[in-house]
Amino acid sequence: MNKLCLLALFTSMVSAMPSIGQTRDSHVDLPHLERRGNATQLLVDGKPFLVLGGELHNSNSSSVEYMKNVWPHLTTMHLNTVLLPVAWETIEPEEGRFDFRCVDGLLEGARANNLKLVVLWFGAWKNTYSSYAPAWVKTNTERFPRVQMSDGRGTERLSPFSTTVRDADARAFAQFMRHLREVDGNTHTVLMVQVENEVGVIPESRDHSNAANAAFAAPVPSALTSHLERHKATMDPELRAAWEAAGAKTTGTWQDLFGKASLTDDLFMAWQYATYIERVTAAGKAEYSLPMYANAALIRPNYEPGQYNSGGPLPHSMDIWHAGAPSLDFLSPDIYFNEFALWAGRYTLPDNPLFIPEAQGGSAGAANAFYAFGHLSAIGFSPFGIDDQGNAPLDLVGITNPSEHSDNSAIGYVYTDLSRLAPLILEKQGAGSISSALMEGEAQRSARLSIGEYTATITRAGGTSSAGARLAAMFIATGPNEFLVLGSGDAQITFSTDKPGPPIVGIESIDEEFFENGAWVPRRRLNGDEDSQGQALRLYAGDLAEGKIYRVRLYRYR
Ligand code: DGJ
Repeated sequence: MNKLCLLALFTSMVSAMPSIGQTRDSHVDLPHLERRGNATQLLVDGKPFLVLGGELHNSNSSSVEYMKNVWPHLTTMHLNTVLLPVAWETIEPEEGRFDFRCVDGLLEGARANNLKLVVLWFGAWKNTYSSYAPAWVKTNTERFPRVQMSDGRGTERLSPFSTTVRDADARAFAQFMRHLREVDGNTHTVLMVQVENEVGVIPESRDHSNAANAAFAAPVPSALTSHLERHKATMDPELRAAWEAAGAKTTGTWQDLFGKASLTDDLFMAWQYATYIERVTAAGKAEYSLPMYANAALIRPNYEPGQYNSGGPLPHSMDIWHAGAPSLDFLSPDIYFNEFALWAGRYTLPDNPLFIPEAQGGSAGAANAFYAFGHLSAIGFSPFGIDDQGNAPLDLVGITNPSEHSDNSAIGYVYTDLSRLAPLILEKQGAGSISSALMEGEAQRSARLSIGEYTATITRAGGTSSAGARLAAMFIATGPNEFLVLGSGDAQITFSTDKPGPPIVGIESIDEEFFENGAWVPRRRLNGDEDSQGQALRLYAGDLAEGKIYRVRLYRYR
């Protein structure tokens, strides 16, 4: 066979292989994830798509009427996707009687406003509780058992050990996905689905029901132990340390394998939630195979399992989640903490692309969005509570500077720029020629970033009050010596190199550019005082609002 024939054979084999998260028989045009060069991307109608999202407050999508005033506000912010809940209690108010009027109204509203949706399935759990389960589930605790405290008291949490709960949840979810296929299978308004919301148990580290106690005393399932053995080399270091400290056994109870610590309870619950969610996800995908994921409430400093959601899809239990819920396409962090880069990085793995369904908004969110898309090739970013302009979400209270969060105009500006740059960003994510620097607090005065054969040194400049303590700059290589640069605040950027060749870097030119009639158009050539006599690029906090970016050309000499 000649080389051309081999290439044709290889190409047809590759295109016949299912993409990540797709079943073999799913329709190729459905929204799906695909590895494209260096990045895993979401493809919508055959093209890569950057989710410039925002998540609604929890209760607003329960009313189509209420949403009428919300949609236009979202489009003015240049969102292209809205994350909103669909609750089990809404679609199955009586057992076996399904009502999709609200779902249909939400689809209609989104379409009329040219918006895509990511649906959050608020089934058995939302923030560990079961408040979105229908009344016929909530009130029948005999049939639908709850997580129990160690003293025997019940809780408002359905037990993940109950197959009755699981099967009822999965049946409802499957009906929902079937309906979605019928009404949206060609239009693709809904791009992805989050299965449940921030699962886990609090305030104790595990369920103490009889079913849970029996599972805890039983051997760890071999489906998990064999996965751990196979993935030993790449396993999360914390999980591996716990396993090795207990002797790296491959058979035994949970405590035999991971020790007598509360972390073991967390890992045990992680397996239970993961395998439960696997059944729900698989039932939904069998009807309509959209990408699906689960989201995590992260861990506040020094919190123990049970103080944080024990069993959620956290970094230290990702291997357990991947083993228990292979139908999920990825696991996602809800990042309200100041250490954005740390948490986002822990969810950016070769087998786990980054999608951030909840995050802080405002100027802090704007900086974080630059970092997520530019540095971590995120599929999407989505500040929580995007439908109001004033109130910080509960998760932010006491965590960060609320003034940095409360005004979402910065998100509007950053999404305006990002939507204009999206095709280029997606191309460069795949090519590995885009990156971003992020400074996470005023104490951090500068950052260094490798961009192609150059190093950019970004230093805070001017006042930071208008831009907040967070500052990001994004660099998109448009040639070996040319970059588009945009940032979220006042900064000065100098360039150097440590690569072989002439050692000194000069600025050949800097042009400011604005988006006009579908293209970036140069306006002023910035020189003299405006680029420190050819020594530095200056970014301003007002650039985002002005929609201004910079095209920088560099050269090297001796
Ligand atoms: C995290 C949850 O996932 C959201 O639904 C919402 O309750 C926020 N917390 C509130 O800050």
